[in-house]
Amino acid sequence: MSSKKDLNVGLVGYGFMGRTHSNAWRKVGNFFDLEYAPRLKAVCGRDRNNTEAFAAQWGYESIETDWKAIVNRDDIDAVDICTPNNTHAEIALAAAAAGKMILCEKPLSMNAEEGKTMVEAVEKAGVANTVWYNYRRTPAVTLAKQLIDEGRLGKIFHYRANFLQDWTISSDLPQGGAGLWRLDVKAAGSGVTGDLLAHCIDTAIWLNGGIGEVTAMTETFIKQRMHNLTGKVEEVGIDDACSFLCRFGNGSLGLFESTRYARGHKALYTFEINGEKASIKWDLHDLHRLEYFDHGDDSRVRGWRSVHVTDGDMPYMDKWWVPGLQIGYEHTFVHQVADFLEGIAKGEPTKPDFKEALISQKVCDAVLQSAQSRQWVAVD
Ligand SMILES: NC(=O)c1ccc[n+]([C@@H]2O[C@H](COP(=O)([O-])OP(=O)(O)OC[C@H]3O[C@@H](n4cnc5c(N)ncnc54)[C@H](O)[C@@H]3O)[C@@H](O)[C@H]2O)c1
Repeated sequence: MSSKKDLNVGLVGYGFMGRTHSNAWRKVGNFFDLEYAPRLKAVCGRDRNNTEAFAAQWGYESIETDWKAIVNRDDIDAVDICTPNNTHAEIALAAAAAGKMILCEKPLSMNAEEGKTMVEAVEKAGVANTVWYNYRRTPAVTLAKQLIDEGRLGKIFHYRANFLQDWTISSDLPQGGAGLWRLDVKAAGSGVTGDLLAHCIDTAIWLNGGIGEVTAMTETFIKQRMHNLTGKVEEVGIDDACSFLCRFGNGSLGLFESTRYARGHKALYTFEINGEKASIKWDLHDLHRLEYFDHGDDSRVRGWRSVHVTDGDMPYMDKWWVPGLQIGYEHTFVHQVADFLEGIAKGEPTKPDFKEALISQKVCDAVLQSAQSRQWVAVD
């Protein structure tokens, strides 16, 4: 008999994130010694056959075809929201009212106003909550956080981030519906700003502190696309590309760019931070490495080091293989689950919680507002 406490998980949405989260819930107990053991109690999808097939493949004990059933079931402790952005608030508000813990995919909400209602709801209900900004839990990115917090970079001058893709260049690509909801502003809220820059902003705030003001430009290169749900050609309401400048509270300058029109790039998330004493670079395509330049090195050997983040004294790495053997994308989700389970055992929040994710939501809102007004906008 296991002495562990069960945590019954109800997953809503079985697409890309449904798979990464299910994988994480299943694996976490094999690698992390935790008080709580997740049980894949139920998965919800709207198509019964597909949901049953998913449940069988990933080991869920039961299925539902309406998320309200997941939220209202007495045998569910935590609701894991893996559905498009326009559904996050409705599901989270109901889950909080039912007293469930909530793990919500990013971005928290369609906009900050909606996000505020979600923060109020989880705070009123007193339920554990977190938002899946999983890149924080890439060991190399967590290591960057440690190095910055130790003061190794000194005063920070610049923060630069990119998130580049190329999958929407064809004007024949429709918008809306399964797989393409990201192109439909009614489902996504925004384009690359909420989808990709939200990640960059979350990491940036975590590593470098709050953002005070922004100035942005956006472009929608393909103005009309066939809508899968209506069958008609409709206006495209999302931003295909977004670039913005900002000032951080610590005085450093930020430069961010995201697009789905950078031919050749599939998911190139990079950031570089330049400090008085040292600089750091990270690249999602080589996610187990951290590039580090230390001006304090003897000048004869000074240069960019490529640190292979696999040793046991590096973040999370004592849980995996032996030094020299790397881990990848899926493990960032395992780490978030592990931290969440540890957080509930200790009664501590797992960051970013809804309250913290609302801050990056406010930056996204300010970016979109600035692009529209062509003015600098202070972040609320
Ligand atoms: N953390 C990350 O790195 C990351 C990466 C990708 C997506 N996301 C976020 O995860 C969420 C889902 O994205 P995805 O890529 O998994 O999308 P997806 O299209 O692959 O999957 C979405 C799933 O939600 C289901 N769904 C939609 N409406 C539903 C409803 N009312 N009830 C039940 N199920 C419903 C769909 O059928 C599908 O199974 C989005 O908010 C997205 O921004 C985060």
